[in-house]
Amino acid sequence: MSRISYVNGNYIPHHAASVHIEDRGYQFSDGVYEVIAIHKGQLIDLDGHLSRLERSLEELEIAWPVTPKAMNIIISQVIRRNRIRDGIVYLQITRGVAPRDHAFPSHNNSALVVTAKHFPPFKFNIENEGVAVITTPEIRWQRRDIKTVSLLGNCLAKEKARRSGCYEAWFVEDDGMITEGTTSNSWIVTDKDELITRDVSNSILNGITRLSIIKLAKNNNIKLCERAFSLEEAQSAKEAFISSTTSFVKPVLKINDKFVGDGKVGLFTTKLLSFYSNHIKAQLA
Ligand code: PDD
Repeated sequence: MSRISYVNGNYIPHHAASVHIEDRGYQFSDGVYEVIAIHKGQLIDLDGHLSRLERSLEELEIAWPVTPKAMNIIISQVIRRNRIRDGIVYLQITRGVAPRDHAFPSHNNSALVVTAKHFPPFKFNIENEGVAVITTPEIRWQRRDIKTVSLLGNCLAKEKARRSGCYEAWFVEDDGMITEGTTSNSWIVTDKDELITRDVSNSILNGITRLSIIKLAKNNNIKLCERAFSLEEAQSAKEAFISSTTSFVKPVLKINDKFVGDGKVGLFTTKLLSFYSNHIKAQLA
């Protein structure tokens, strides 16, 4: 069965799907995106992803290419046509095609691409899932709260992580504070069993997984503080982990060659993952 993708009104074999060379996403990174997990055929936290998409579009003054209702139908169609049970949906909206000019075009013909692919099913057991991260200077622009396709800083840092044999890179600002990972939010657990993650501002993307974890922590009476934390604090934390749509809750066992805690997957992270697993199961039809 060939893979099918949606491009501006048409469902097209993936290998033939393309956009115009003057699409502003291609020329200027002038676009936004979302990645949504599919578990057992069910879209996870769809509403959260669509409201963040709406916010990203508003911040950049890009028009919705279709109504939110049509968007839901297109997403379902792409999943159905690709027969995805466990996977991800990727959707991207750019300001569309226009003669190259930095200022916005007068038209509102934003462009929509939706793809879907199979992805390993959600892992409820993370015993052997610990990863290592490196840190790298924060070189990205100052509107990281917008989920834009302008990801070159993230790509350079992820490549650096790969070349160091690590799963993720955490960005560190000039003042020594960690913002987030290249494709995930960063978390630590202190000696006092307090869960810490960076507070929301223009400095980080407000992850949908992050928001779910915060809600789950609150519902389960876990001490939580949304604030900046330093590399030093992270390296001497009891536990650390990352969160994202594709990594879920993933333990971090090493930061820059220094083990976190005893270097093993911690009880706290395991407990949070079990809350998160229940949160996913609760969404299954
Ligand atoms: N990335 N921070 C950054 C920079 C990200 O790119 C992501 C997600 C997150 C976590 O957000 P969420 O929990 O909503 O997935 C934080 C996606 C998965 C990606 O670019 O593939």
